[in-house]
Amino acid sequence: MQRRHLIQTAGLTALALSMSLAGAQDNSKFKIGLILPMTGQQASTGRQIEAAARLYMAQNGDTVAGRKIELIVKDDVATPDVTKRLAQELIVNDKVNVIAGFGVTPAALAAAPLATQSKTPQVVMAAATSSITEASPYIVRSSFTLPQVSVAMGDWAPKNGVKTVVTLVADYGPGNDAEKFFSERFQLNGGKVIEKLRVPLRNPDFAPFLQKVRDAKPDALFVFVPSGAGAAVMKQFLERGMDKAGIKMIATGDVTDDDQLNDMGDGALGVVTSHHYSAAHPSPANKKFVEAFQKANPKMRPNFMAVGGYDGMRVIYEALKATKGQGGGDALLAAMKGQIFESPRGPVYIDAQTRDIVQDVYLRKVEKKDGQLYNVEFDVIKGVKDPGKK
Ligand code: DHB
Repeated sequence: MQRRHLIQTAGLTALALSMSLAGAQDNSKFKIGLILPMTGQQASTGRQIEAAARLYMAQNGDTVAGRKIELIVKDDVATPDVTKRLAQELIVNDKVNVIAGFGVTPAALAAAPLATQSKTPQVVMAAATSSITEASPYIVRSSFTLPQVSVAMGDWAPKNGVKTVVTLVADYGPGNDAEKFFSERFQLNGGKVIEKLRVPLRNPDFAPFLQKVRDAKPDALFVFVPSGAGAAVMKQFLERGMDKAGIKMIATGDVTDDDQLNDMGDGALGVVTSHHYSAAHPSPANKKFVEAFQKANPKMRPNFMAVGGYDGMRVIYEALKATKGQGGGDALLAAMKGQIFESPRGPVYIDAQTRDIVQDVYLRKVEKKDGQLYNVEFDVIKGVKDPGKK
């Protein structure tokens, strides 16, 4: 009788325990609110980052330090008012532990005050204006900054026969950063900037600007446009015969975006860009990443946005592990600062002071490999911090 009683008690205890565990597990979900442009002009950014975040979860499991990870994806159409409303709803109603994503600078800036007020870490996986990390002490960035990649081109171009340049940038935060940091460095190296052109972010018509460039006859045109807009610039550049008129295109890697590059045609061959990620980066870690990404997403090639999303998830997972599953905005943030790891792009770390990513920047040239166009790296500047920080 006693033995039976014991077994019964043990059975009940086990049941109670498993029920309370199930209950606890439900409460202890760890929620990540991923705010991305899934539709509209910036939709490729959202598509790339969501795919990469889901790949990271598939590879690393959806339970971290005992907590089930829930990814809540919201479409902000890259519109800051919408971003703000979604961030508010995610924080207040869904009680997310982290907000992440942010395809464009105005979206990242719109969410920043909410991150600060609620002490919610905000992981910026795409937007790349230098000043973003200063908008909230709860922001950590896993993408890059325009000054970081533009300075490298300001050094390379004058040493490679480019003495005069016209700059052409999308007229908002990252474009203004690219223009300023490229031009300053290019001029410091003895180059001359003949003219600085800015095109509207929304539905730009490049034709009148390119006509001006033709008339100015610089050795090269330096371009920044956001991810997704590069193919249109390239098309019009070639249609207007700029290359045949002896004007080279140089750019940040946003223009020869891996998401679009292969459809740009052979006219893109030889274009030199500076950037932090190429799908052709020859490390074993990147080969594994690209293979897994393409297996999970046939017909897609991961671009720099995908890597920002993948590494952003890494930063969140490892922070949660470091807090032993406890989470908490301040503890998570502390555990995000100083993370050092090998990304598919190469070695990186999150600068504990600035909360910005420090990484290698590559010079790359568009080449054909196995019948496809790639940004092939030919030089590297190691461990570049954002030059935009004071
Ligand atoms: C930003 C967006 C982009 O698509 C990009 O390539 C670089 C910067 C931005 O809005 O910050």
